[in-house]
Amino acid sequence: MTTAGGGTWGFGLAGCGVIAETFASALVGVDGARLVAVHDVQVARAEAFAAQTGAVHARSLGELVELDGVDVVCVCVPSGLHAEVSMAAVDAGKHVVVEKPIDVNLEGRLGEPLFIQARVPWYRAQAYYDSASWRGTWALDGGGAFMNQGVHHADLLCWLFGAPEVLAAHCANLVHDIEVEDLAVALLRFPNEAVGTLVASTVSFPGFPTVLSVNGTEGSLELVDGALVAVALKGAELKGGGAELDLGDTSGLGSPEGHRAQLADIVAALGEGRPAPVGGEDGYRALKLVLDVYRRAGWRD
Ligand SMILES: NC(=O)c1ccc[n+]([C@@H]2O[C@H](COP(=O)([O-])OP(=O)(O)OC[C@H]3O[C@@H](n4cnc5c(N)ncnc54)[C@H](O)[C@@H]3O)[C@@H](O)[C@H]2O)c1
Repeated sequence: MTTAGGGTWGFGLAGCGVIAETFASALVGVDGARLVAVHDVQVARAEAFAAQTGAVHARSLGELVELDGVDVVCVCVPSGLHAEVSMAAVDAGKHVVVEKPIDVNLEGRLGEPLFIQARVPWYRAQAYYDSASWRGTWALDGGGAFMNQGVHHADLLCWLFGAPEVLAAHCANLVHDIEVEDLAVALLRFPNEAVGTLVASTVSFPGFPTVLSVNGTEGSLELVDGALVAVALKGAELKGGGAELDLGDTSGLGSPEGHRAQLADIVAALGEGRPAPVGGEDGYRALKLVLDVYRRAGWRD
């Protein structure tokens, strides 16, 4: 696609709140990009934003996405409206930049989940297991690749799609001198009858990003290391994220951002006297799935 503005990409902002300010400031420093038009359901807010930035005030979303000078629409509306506003722009043939999160639930645009695949193809050298006597033991690690590394995705699958039944499972110790498995493959059936696979490995030299792929009745998406890399919806196609595969960061460790966000949430919950959003039952559900896989594979009673 070529730009409407003679080599300069014209941007439109849908929503003129807090994050739209960031977009407007950020665009000023991007060569080849120009803020062209803005729209908000709060007319006075959009007018003020347009006056402040010199952009055109589009009176409706339809007007914004149809404007010739707009090549890219940045979706800065509340999260639950992301899909609806994005699709209006896509239907008008525009590129879309969607604020996080892409939507507030998966069922919305993907329809009913049909096939779910999760992969944790990591690598641990023998030195990792030798680094502490509890690693790789039934007594204190509780298992191997599935319990220690795969449990994150076990938790994620339970959270997103409900706790699945384990139809079949296979565990193997292929490489490491440890009591437990270094590769586990599970075939799952979710409460809505969707079928899934979860694979956890510590034999996949040199370690690869995790993948979560969901095929639904209305479309599919794929997350690589938690970043959305592709979304395809029936009747339209959105190319998402564009995350680069960073093979250097496959340890699952490193940045404390995830823990920081969770701790901040726990502190807020304590202050407000509400339950923490992730509780013991969530941990129990993920653990039960891991243990069910071991039982099904014949590795635990
Ligand atoms: N990436 C980040 O760091 C970051 C930071 C803040 C917010 N966000 C995301 O940005 C989104 C917006 O957050 P915010 O803090 O800017 O919210 P905000 O409430 O400040 O702004 C949202 C704006 O959207 C407008 N709006 C609502 N429905 C609309 C519609 N149908 N069409 C057009 N405009 C509509 C509202 O009137 C409001 O002005 C959220 O999804 C949030 O998660 C991302």
